[in-house]
Amino acid sequence: MSANPLAPGWLSHPEDANALDARVWPRGARRDDDGVVTLAGVPVGDLAREFGTPLYVLDEADALGRAAEIRDAFAAAFPGGSSVYYAGKAFLSIEVARWMADAGLNIDVASGGELAVALAAGVDPSRLGLHGNNKSLPEIDRAVGAGVGAIVLDSVVEVERVAEAARRHGIVQNVRLRINSGVHASTHEYLATAREDQKFGIPISDAVEVVAGIRDHPELRFLGLHSHIGSQIFESAGFGEAARRLLELHAALRAGGDVPELNLGGGFGIAYTSADEVVPMATIADELARVVTGECERLGIPVPKVAIEPGRVIIGPSTVTLYEVGTIKDVLVTGDNGGSAVRRYVSVDGGMSDNVRPALYAADYAVRMVNRSSDADAVLVRVAGKHCESGDIVVRADYLPGDVRPGDLLAVPATGAYCWSLASNYNYLGRPAVVAVKDGAARAIVRRETEDDLLSRDLGARA
Ligand SMILES: Cc1ncc(COP(=O)(O)O)c(C=O)c1O
Repeated sequence: MSANPLAPGWLSHPEDANALDARVWPRGARRDDDGVVTLAGVPVGDLAREFGTPLYVLDEADALGRAAEIRDAFAAAFPGGSSVYYAGKAFLSIEVARWMADAGLNIDVASGGELAVALAAGVDPSRLGLHGNNKSLPEIDRAVGAGVGAIVLDSVVEVERVAEAARRHGIVQNVRLRINSGVHASTHEYLATAREDQKFGIPISDAVEVVAGIRDHPELRFLGLHSHIGSQIFESAGFGEAARRLLELHAALRAGGDVPELNLGGGFGIAYTSADEVVPMATIADELARVVTGECERLGIPVPKVAIEPGRVIIGPSTVTLYEVGTIKDVLVTGDNGGSAVRRYVSVDGGMSDNVRPALYAADYAVRMVNRSSDADAVLVRVAGKHCESGDIVVRADYLPGDVRPGDLLAVPATGAYCWSLASNYNYLGRPAVVAVKDGAARAIVRRETEDDLLSRDLGARA
């Protein structure tokens, strides 16, 4: 069977459209001899029957394994001290916050709501960091009052706001300063200077003055600099370049006082499709350690404690979204050269409300039929959602067995990060449940939204 000319260049015709690529699927995903896919030992049909679809299914051991591997890789690469913050914006629930804290990770929150979830999980507030380019006064007050370990200052005006809250609570608040290093990596574009044109952080050139201002406040303790250069980054070069730029500044700031830490942010890439080549986190940790120690030697300063804030690389690969096929349509598409080919639209019972990334970032995903295997010839499909938007696409292009039919279950892997957390109620769809699977058992950790939930905030209902 030849490739469909409508297929993008990176997508090859599969030898076996039933195969689960281990680089993209959770570690606990298997296709059993009967053709049914199990996730951590739980058959997908059982999951769909018990919890309904669409459904986020989170392989607990996968997420915990990746968290521990990253923690250990950085501990080994930076023997002088390192810390890993789990970036809760990728996906945060009370249970997941607890897992991460139990695995020895700190947690990075980016709003009062995320802070509330981490506190509800019983995470020691001293292990939390608060981010945000526009934290509200109540958010700052709550964080300071709760005793969060550090607040990342993102603008000059926040220096006084956080100092004032610390004064009110009678404490000294640890702070970091977010720097816009000018390195904003998006795969190969990490040196694009235009990336300085963005809302986060303060320019490197202003930092010495801002840190002096922080140090003038006895209610604030300056821990160090922070940078986050972007997301879904595959190479360590951008992180290395940011580390170099920040360490120059870090060394200069030591003249005015202690600078114990350097935070290099998150953004490490994951494989969404078989075409994505991912660098192991141990390699990234080693390369970063080489850059940081080399640079510190050159500058004649001790290696600071290095912190990172990964979200996607911990939780992203752990989760698949399970959908049921509703309708199927073959559409004859005429190409630029006048030739035509068929694209099969397979519509599922979710869409951009549970995964907005394809619409938001033109993100690509893979898909497999998971309730059965099939020897039918593979056909190019586009998996569409059920929303009233033609851009409501879940998987732009992949191959499925040609006998895929209504009622089949499809699974889209690598949906653990920025899917549930960006989910919406568009078209009044309730947000799906999140189910954790482990050792052959499944339990909901976030329940599905019901119609009652959706109506409960609407004050127009008559008594
Ligand atoms: C400041 C900061 N830290 C960490 C992260 C986590 O990034 P990722 O989930 O790609 O690792 C983000 C993501 O936007 C961020 O803005």
